[in-house]
Parts: sequence; structure tokens; C-alpha cells
Amino acid sequence: MSAKMEQKEQRYIQRHSMQTRITHDIVAVACIWLTFSGLFVFIPALASAFPDFTRAMRVSHRIVGCILIITPIVSAILSPRGVGRFFKKYFTKWTPEDKEFTKKFVPYMLNARNVHMPDQDEVKSGQRFADGLMVVGVLLMAISGLVLWLGTSVWRVSGDTASVMRTIHDICFLILVIFVVAHVYLGAGIFEPYKGTGKLMWGNGQVSESNALYHWGFWARKELEKGDKVLLKDENDQVVARGKEAVDLGNTYIEEKLKQKAPLKQE
Ligand code: HEM
Repeated sequence: MSAKMEQKEQRYIQRHSMQTRITHDIVAVACIWLTFSGLFVFIPALASAFPDFTRAMRVSHRIVGCILIITPIVSAILSPRGVGRFFKKYFTKWTPEDKEFTKKFVPYMLNARNVHMPDQDEVKSGQRFADGLMVVGVLLMAISGLVLWLGTSVWRVSGDTASVMRTIHDICFLILVIFVVAHVYLGAGIFEPYKGTGKLMWGNGQVSESNALYHWGFWARKELEKGDKVLLKDENDQVVARGKEAVDLGNTYIEEKLKQKAPLKQE
């Protein structure tokens, strides 16, 4: 490795697999399309203003709804262990750091520079709650949507059942709009401390060591210790080492840098 290469090389952790990213992105695009097409069903004024377009939107609402339901099922069949890992990281016991994180979240959003957040595990405590609510919301939307669709075509549901399903569909829609907007604000890195986070689901799924330590300190240290998801990249963003080798080479690089540093003068 050249000296120039060493100067810019950096360790990364593979946070999300290709399969997770594809599943997430199809579901995300489907949700956005369902929101848009659903507006034509939800708002009668839109439906009467654009009758032909509304018909097309209603058909697309059903097709995209099927894609939203089938995608996670296929993904779960392809990787049952991934489903287990997903539930394990979301249903973990709350630690004192998790409680502190939740208490400090609003002050942090208002003044991130001056609020020090505690270390977090793989999924932050607030994120566990918000993502969990989105998963449940999407599930309830899917069930109520299917009953409304099939219950008026394949079989006949009672008027009461249909109205309960419609209410569930509408309430979950409103809850999802709020949580998805907040999720996109953080997930797309619009909030400054989360800059670059979008790449975790819409890019290569890798997080730099410094960002991993900043956001998910407990998780990052565990991964750096294990090493199997660690990558070392050169200045051209090319992977030069993986796994334990990436950890060891990265450590050597840091040690070399420390040796080169002159000690600070005593105050
Ligand atoms: C287009 C806008 C979206 C962006 C930019 C976005 C971004 C992200 C990012 C960056 C993550 C990774 C967070 C992490 O590693 O801790 C994530 C995870 C997640 N997102 Fe999104 N997301 C979007 C839309 C959605 C939608 C519409 C849903 C579902 C309603 C959704 C559900 C989830 C879930 C459940 C996770 C956790 C996945 C896991 O941990 O395996 N996202 N999103």
C-alpha cells in the first residue's frame, strides 16, 4: 500500500446487506406510490376532478399494494435468519442509555452541537419505537386493504366489517404519514448530524467507523471487535481489506499516525 493511500484510508462497517436494502427500497417506493394513489381514493374532490386518472390510480393502488405485501414475504423466505435478526435487534431490553437517549432526543434535535447523546446499540431506542410503529402500521394497512379489496370482490364482508377496516386504513395512513416524514427527515440525512445516512439504505449499506461510533457506539465497538463486517477502503473508495485483516491494518494505520504526532505541551 502506498503512503498516499494510507493517508486517506478508512474503516467502514457493512451495516445493511444487499437483500435488506432491496427489500427496504421496494417497500419505501411502494409506500410513497400508495400514498399518492391513495389520495385519489381518500379525497372525493380529486376523484371527481380527474375521473380517468383516478381509475388508473385505483388499479395501480391494488397492484402496488400486492408488491408491498409480497416483497417482505419473499425476502423472509429467502432469509429466515434475517427475520430473526430483525426481531432480535428491535425487541431488546431498554438500558439506562436507551432511556437517557429518549429524554435527550428533543433537546438534541433543537441543538445537536451542545447535547451529548449516550452510546446506542444496533438500533437506537427511539428508532426501535418509530420503525416498529411503521412496520405495524404497514401490516395493518395491508390487512385492512386486502379485506376491503377481496371482501367486495371475491367474498362479501358485512357493512360493519368494511367500515371498521376503512377506519383502520385511514387512521394507519395518518399515523404513517407522520412517522414516514420523520423517518425520511432523519434517514435521508436532512438533519445535519445524520448527513450521509441515506447511503445505508439507498447506497452501499456501509457506515464509516467514525459515524458508526457516533450513532451506535455499543454496536460499532462490538462489530470492530468481531471484525467480520469491517472493510478498509483506500482513497479511491476501493476495498483493500476485509474482516480481521481490515481491523488489523486499520489499527496499524492509527498507531502509525499516533507515532507521528508530537506530544502536546503541558498547560
Ligand atoms: C424514501 C424515503 C426513505 C429513506 C430515505 C429511508 C432511509 C432509511 C435508512 C437510512 C435506514 C437505515 C437506518 C439504520 O441503519 O439505522 C432505514 C431503515 C428502515 N426504514 Fe426507511 N427510508 C425511507 C422510507 C421508508 C418507508 C416508506 C418505510 C416503511 C413504511 C421504511 C421503513 C424502514 C424500516 C422498517 C427500517 C429498519 C430496517 C432494518 O433495520 O433492517 N423506510 N430507512
